[in-house]
Parts: sequence; structure tokens; C-alpha cells
Amino acid sequence: MASSLVSFLATGNYISSSCRAISNHDIDSCTFGQASFPNKRKSRELSVVSVATELPLVVQQQPWKGVEKEKKLVAWTSIQQDRWEGELVVEGTIPRWLNGTYLRNGPGLWHLGDYDFRHLFDGYATMVRLHFDNGRLVMGHRQIESDAYKAARKNNKLCYREFSEVPKYDNFLAYIGDLANLFSGASLTDNANTGVVQLGDGRVVCLTETIKGSIVIDPNNLDTLGKFEYSDTLGGLVHSAHPIVTESEFLTLLPDLLNPGYLVARMEPGSNERKVIGRVDCRGGPSPGWVHSFPVTEHYVIVPEMPLRYCAQNLLRAEPTPLYKFEWHPESKAYMHVMCKASGKLVASVEVPLFVTFHFINAYEEKDEDGRVTGVIADCCEHNANTTILDKLRLKNLRSWSGEDVLPDARYNYIYTPYKIELRSLIT
Ligand SMILES: [Fe+2]
Repeated sequence: MASSLVSFLATGNYISSSCRAISNHDIDSCTFGQASFPNKRKSRELSVVSVATELPLVVQQQPWKGVEKEKKLVAWTSIQQDRWEGELVVEGTIPRWLNGTYLRNGPGLWHLGDYDFRHLFDGYATMVRLHFDNGRLVMGHRQIESDAYKAARKNNKLCYREFSEVPKYDNFLAYIGDLANLFSGASLTDNANTGVVQLGDGRVVCLTETIKGSIVIDPNNLDTLGKFEYSDTLGGLVHSAHPIVTESEFLTLLPDLLNPGYLVARMEPGSNERKVIGRVDCRGGPSPGWVHSFPVTEHYVIVPEMPLRYCAQNLLRAEPTPLYKFEWHPESKAYMHVMCKASGKLVASVEVPLFVTFHFINAYEEKDEDGRVTGVIADCCEHNANTTILDKLRLKNLRSWSGEDVLPDARYNYIYTPYKIELRSLIT
């Protein structure tokens, strides 16, 4: 099974509404080699080779103005059914050597009944599967059966706290109960819409930033198999949405919201137990910086301390702020901490220019002529230290396509951390 999986992208930015949508927007996974998906004109030619057992529609598609006119907007429409599978028409030729399965997840359903969600990140998770088989391409998508999604489908209303959406309470007691559940994590969503990884043992896990939102799926039929239960006692409510996963390990960051800092943890293939490699204390601010992702090199885990920090008060709010669950603390400055993977020791803690990033791209070590590591480079997609990118990802904004991108360009940036210099300053 594991060997048949081509690759996994841990970054699920969004999921298109159906195979038609897949054919129309421009996410990077929509082209693969010489294969391309049929354009909208040809969408009627799609041949369904197998359709999973029909399920009741969660909600009817809510057509909105302009979607038929502008291809780009289709990316922001909800999926039209819980599940779909069929063979896609291929223009050109898929190389015969390209065989296997490509999986990707992301938000795919943004409304319940007549209620429209506001933010891209609120969408209920949709798995998309592309199966390449000897020149043919079968595509399928399916909703991940998280508790949050099942409850929403059953009750036709929001029942868990999503990224920007909070359940509406029937009375004050219900509100108090929800706050109590918030502290235990019970009311937080498990909507695993952020990434999908294949562990070294072959298990496929969908993830979001809540730890409870770790959900195992079957990569063949996209069945939701159940929660990935961590067997350790590390606790906490949130973790990095994008762990670093290789055949030999799963590395993750767990922010400590009570005693500001981060735990760096490793999990072995075949195990559900995370073991702490080390801990980093925050250098500034009232709480840890948001760690949506983090970079890792051959020998080091790099812990970013971004001035966009978790905020307990904003977590409690019924209505989102422009920064949602976070707060901007430029006075707290920004840091990159470098931890040795083998020993857990902090070898550097370097102040860097203020930055805002969701995703690190790559990281590597820089060496001198004698092969000694002199620093690490972390590449990231950086938003010019401007937090408005969070609010720009509101659906209303994304759907206001007028011919020009509504999102400000991010810049490719690299952060150089000369750990030896900082190591000396730490000693003194
Ligand atoms: Fe992400």
C-alpha cells in the first residue's frame, strides 16, 4: 500500500468544489506531468466509472453570482456532494510510468443550510484522491467524517468552534457550558482540513491545528477510519498543522500556551507515542508565536517564534477579530531557535526581522570548507510582516474576483541563522 502512494502534500490550501472545479482552478496539483484535467467546456464528457454508495446531500449547492462566468471563483464554492468518484478525461498523454495515488485535503464545504461561513479556513475538510494507473486517471473526493462535520450534518448547524465560527447558543447556560468545554478542548473542532501525511508505517493521517483533529483515513476509498489517538501524556490542545514526516520519524511542535514555549517531539513509525526531544522557552511576548509550520534540517529542528502570537482572549470571543485567535506583538520581536535533533539542546536563539508566514518551504545547513555547520537557512513564504493576510482570506474577499488578484503577493524570503555566533552570546 505505502509504496503505491506517489506523494502527499501537507499543504491543503483549498479544495475545489467537484471534478469540474478541479478542472478550472489553478492549484499546483491540478497539473501533473503532461496530464491535464478537462476544462469546463469538456466537463460534461467526464465518465463516471464508479460512484460510491449514494449518501444524502449535506446541503444543496448554493449557486452564487458570477461563478459560471469566472473560472477562478469556482475554487471557492462548496462541494456539491459528500463523495464522488470517476475517471477523468485526459488531454495529452499521462506517462505510463506514472502510477500511484496522490492525496490532498483542504476546506471544501463552506455553508450549512442557508448559513455561509466567512473564512477560507472554516470549510469542512474534503479529501481529494487522484489515482494514476497505466495512463488512466481516476479522481475521487469525499468529506472527512470528523465529529464536527458529522454533528453539523446531523443538526444542520455549527456545533464546534471552527477557525472563525462559533456555535450559536440557545441560552446563557449553553454558552457557559461551551466555555468550560473550550478549556478541556471538547468544544474545539476536529475538522482535519489542513494537511495529510503518510506516516512511516503507511498510515495516512489528516491534520489540523487541534490535536484532536488528527484523523486516519483509508487512501484507497477515502473512508474515515477514526481518530489518531496519541498514546502519550503530552496533553495540550494545539500543535503545528504541518509536522515533518519522513520514513523514519514524525516531528512536531506543540506550543505551550500556559508557560510560553514549545515542545519539540518525535514519534516513531508504528507508534502513537510522541516523545519530547526538547523544549524552547519563548524569548518575548505573553504567549507563543503561531506555529502553523516549521522547518527542519538534517540535524536541527528550527522553532520559529513569530510575533503573531496565540491569544487566549481572542479564543474566547464569539465574533472573530481581524487577527482571529491571534494577536500581533511587534514589541516582543521575532526569533528563530535552533535545536539539535539528537540531543534536544538549543544551539542557537537568534533575533530575526519581524515576519509573518504560514509555510516554510525548505531548510538546510550551511557548512564551511571543513564541513562544519556554520548556520542554517530557512526558506519561507513571507507576507511582508503584514498580518492582514489573515483577513484577506475571508471568502467574501476571495470571491470578489474582478480580474486582479485580491491577495497581496507574498515574498520568498530566507532567514539565515548563524548558530555559532549566537551560541557564543548564549554562553556569555
Ligand atoms: Fe498550511
